[in-house]
Amino acid sequence: MKARKKSWEEKVDLVKDSYYRAASHKFFAERFYKYLFYLKPSIKEYFKNTDFEKQEEVIIDGLDFMFGYISGDDKNARVQFLRLCKTHNKKNMNIHPHNYYYWIEALIMAGKECDANWHDDLEYYWREVVSFPVMFMSSMYLSDAE
Ligand code: HEM
Repeated sequence: MKARKKSWEEKVDLVKDSYYRAASHKFFAERFYKYLFYLKPSIKEYFKNTDFEKQEEVIIDGLDFMFGYISGDDKNARVQFLRLCKTHNKKNMNIHPHNYYYWIEALIMAGKECDANWHDDLEYYWREVVSFPVMFMSSMYLSDAE
């Protein structure tokens, strides 16, 4: 096992750069949903009324907000990410927290396929960096439940 010496800030920068390279790939969002439904087919149920052409655009905005939220210095990204936490919580779309595991894995699979400069360590960095906002979002599941 290799010693992991990078700081959190270095890993955030590496993952953000990798994300922006991957997201510039025409099919990144499409691949992400393909992997998500492959890893857990029942997730499709949540999307039975979804217009995927639109969803593939808004998920990129959502990911941009999520990466802005991680750095903490982008107020609009923070406000938008909090709004997303609310739309996904129990009272609204009712995305049960266990689904976030598959969401992270599908995101990494799409990143791996679409980032032209992918290297193996990025997989660890993505998983670590993305776990912070995703844990935050899933912890908001019951935030305004009755
Ligand atoms: C941090 C993780 C996530 C982010 C950043 C995110 C982002 C987004 C964004 C930007 C939208 C567009 C609608 C809106 O603004 O509310 C959306 C909608 C949606 N998301 Fe997520 N999402 C996340 C996790 C999940 C997970 C884990 C699931 C289910 C497994 C999920 C299911 C949905 C569904 C069903 C919609 C509605 C689609 C429609 O409008 O028909 N999301 N998400």
